[in-house]
Amino acid sequence: MERELDLVYKRVSTGVKGLDELLGGGLLLGRVYVVTGPPGSGKTTLGIQFLIEGAKHNEKGVYISIVDDARTIIQDMLHFKFNLLYYLKSKKIVIYDLSNFISEGNKKPTWGEVLDEIKRIILQENAKRVVIDSFTPLEFLVEDPENKRREITRLIKLLSTMKVTAITITEMLESDKYTDDQYVASGVIVMHHFMRQYQMIRAIQILKMRGTAHDTNMKKMRITEDGVVVYNEAPW
Ligand SMILES: Nc1ncnc2c1ncn2[C@@H]1O[C@H](COP(=O)(O)OP(=O)(O)OP(=O)(O)O)[C@@H](O)[C@H]1O
Ligand SMILES: [Mg+2]
Repeated sequence: MERELDLVYKRVSTGVKGLDELLGGGLLLGRVYVVTGPPGSGKTTLGIQFLIEGAKHNEKGVYISIVDDARTIIQDMLHFKFNLLYYLKSKKIVIYDLSNFISEGNKKPTWGEVLDEIKRIILQENAKRVVIDSFTPLEFLVEDPENKRREITRLIKLLSTMKVTAITITEMLESDKYTDDQYVASGVIVMHHFMRQYQMIRAIQILKMRGTAHDTNMKKMRITEDGVVVYNEAPW
């Protein structure tokens, strides 16, 4: 039993310096997490760092882009030292651009079709780590909003049965409201970027992390040439 639990609670590194320590050693293997925050708060950068960490350990990573095309993502990430291009060339990380699939005028897919497409991609790539960026437009495809939480649960179940550790990135539409995905996910990480005493402050907050005793206070965060870096101290 202990051995089984050991397997269940295997942790995977986020690839973000300073973050694993705050998470009790990393994310739980095979779970789905939400990373949310305002524009420019570092969500995509963190997602790519998570995939690069996997790629370094031979775990295939898939980045499913819902909004931006692959070229834009690669161009933006070229400014960092973590060398996304190298892992793309060696196919340890693959970017799938679903923006056309999602918004083809009248032929908008159903939620079920989106799930099938995500499943197909994961199987095809034998992916171990998945990032969906951003999940927010997908949520609008749920046919019946009353069933939203049930449908999101369906996606999360799909990902966990496929044994992938996943980060779903969401746009923070209202900072004082919790969304269905946040209730259903195993953990929620909030990236903050706000003005305080005429200075923009970056911070990261672990709002929820099942199976982990963690601090829920905001922590100092920087975006450097190494990507997102987290410090176990107050952000100001
Ligand atoms: N090399 C760098 N060094 C320091 N900061 C950088 C560097 N490159 C980008 N940044 C900062 O990171 C921010 C972008 O981060 P990122 O694209 O990950 O945010 P995001 O939360 O995904 O944004 P969006 O909501 O627009 O998708 C930029 O706005 C900039 O402030
Ligand atoms: Mg982004």
